[in-house]
Amino acid sequence: MSKILILPGDGIGKEIVAQAIKVINSLNDNNDMGMSLEDGLIGGAAYDETGSPLPDETIKLAKNCDSILLGAVGGPKWESLERNLRPERGLLGIRSELDLFSNLRPAILYPQLANASSLKSEIVSGLDLMIVRELVGGIYFGKPRGVEIKDGERFGINSATYYESEIARIGHSAFQIAQKRGKHVCSVDKANVLEVCELWREVMEEVSKDYPDVTLSHLYVDNAAMQLVKDPKQFDVIVTSNLFGDVLSDCAAMLTGSIGMLPSASLNKNNYGMYEPIHGSAPDISGKDIANPLATILSVSMMLRYSLNQEELAKKIDIAVIKVLDKGYRTADIAFEGDKVVGTMEMGDLIVEALES
Ligand code: IPM
Ligand code: MG
Repeated sequence: MSKILILPGDGIGKEIVAQAIKVINSLNDNNDMGMSLEDGLIGGAAYDETGSPLPDETIKLAKNCDSILLGAVGGPKWESLERNLRPERGLLGIRSELDLFSNLRPAILYPQLANASSLKSEIVSGLDLMIVRELVGGIYFGKPRGVEIKDGERFGINSATYYESEIARIGHSAFQIAQKRGKHVCSVDKANVLEVCELWREVMEEVSKDYPDVTLSHLYVDNAAMQLVKDPKQFDVIVTSNLFGDVLSDCAAMLTGSIGMLPSASLNKNNYGMYEPIHGSAPDISGKDIANPLATILSVSMMLRYSLNQEELAKKIDIAVIKVLDKGYRTADIAFEGDKVVGTMEMGDLIVEALES
């Protein structure tokens, strides 16, 4: 029995997580493996109830479970709060508390959605790349940080910092993933300007020696952004720091035209993980039953694959999603003329139906 902590969060989080729970219940009913679910609070919802975006109770629950499924956090309601109380702090805090340093963000173009991309279909068709983003270090967490008064004016500081051990461990993650895919890692940095990136590049070269079957190349982040929109299929695995990974993963996700389709995993060194859709809490469409639950449902598939060692069940979910797309069902965000547009809940039901057929 695996214990899963469910953290719906804010905005559309609750609606999409509810669909993923239908999928988990169906897997529980029809297979040997049981997943028991526990609910927790994070983000704005946690702030409203407890005064903190990441209550101690949530960390305690997280440390006591096998995996976490997260919806999304944030919304206009909490934007004017002091920085430490904002929903995003809950997300950054849980990543850091649990040392979830390895963030896997796949960008896959489903052939059924080829015309959802803003790029020409010959440039993106068949796209399947994986961004491995360092998630608990770099400029997101580096010190010193803050805003102070200096020379009589306000002065803002953040620090991009990495220990070599932090670079090496994300490097190992990336190379091990590449071994199971196309056997190429492209490391993205800004080593022509930043010393911390010079170290990044050096350590990636050192780590690569342990993986003679995988090739390593390097790109500066500005060029990487350009290459992603020019010829994204040249990439297999991209490994990069926290901030660059944040930016490039949104860009890569949009190449597929369907950010509502993309799951992610954030893993610690024991492959304990938190799984969540790549997209945010979309407060503008929350409560309308129109959000796309597929990224969250596919996050359950990633959880089964990476943390719970249940590849067969993961495949079942992946196939169910493809079946439903093949039948022409779409939520509004990925719908084109002639598609059958369905709401959040109906999409969840369709996936369960496909799983059980
Ligand atoms: C992401 C998000 C977060 C990040 C925000 C919400 C703190 O943009 O997961 O990509 O910057 O890491
Ligand atoms: Mg982001």
